Formats: sequence, structure tokens, C-alpha cells
Amino acid sequence: MYFISLCEIKYKGLTSRVIGKEPMKDEKVKIEVLDRSGAEHDLSVEMGTNLREALIQNGLSPYEGAFKGLNCKGMGICGTCKIVVSESFEDWERRSCQIQCFHDLKIRLK
Ligand code: FES
Repeated sequence: MYFISLCEIKYKGLTSRVIGKEPMKDEKVKIEVLDRSGAEHDLSVEMGTNLREALIQNGLSPYEGAFKGLNCKGMGICGTCKIVVSESFEDWERRSCQIQCFHDLKIRLK
């Protein structure tokens, strides 16, 4: 469920009004995670939560080996946080730090 919000964008002296959708607070999305050992985990996180942060908070690091310490901390630069997102009939590799969870997801750690 969403609510409609109105915000103003000011740019170079011009003001535009934008109507957008924002997630309602307290709404949860489900993330099914297949870890590297083949075990399945079901996470329930607040809508809009960053996927990388959700994984780390639940003890499911998207990083392997030395990259747990050597990464860009979610800035979207290094590419070491990649996971595989399963959608319908295809799998997509994505940087987990660049995904905000707005709907249920099924992912696999690399
Ligand atoms: S943490 Fe570096 S790209 Fe995601």
C-alpha cells in the first residue's frame, strides 16, 4: 500500500511540483535468500530497506573473503556486493547496495 506525496523541486530559480508514491511506514517485504551453502533464509524487512544493509544485519554478507573489509561500503563503486536476483524466468546480477526493497525478492548470494 502506498500514499501519495507532494514535493517541490527547486532548480535554478524554478519550482516544480511533483506527485510521487512513497511507501507507507511499517510495511514489510519478504526476501528469500539462498546462501552459498545452499541454505534458504526468509527475511522480512521494512519496505525501502537497502538490500546490502538488510543482508548484513541478518548475518548474510554479500561479500566473499577479503572483500568483507575491502569494499566501498555501499557507494556503488567496487562491485564486490553483487548478488543474483531471480525474476520470473531470468537471473540478474546486481549490486546489492544499489537495491531498495520495494517488493518481495528472491536472491542468491554469489
Ligand atoms: S558495496 Fe561497493 S558496489 Fe556495492
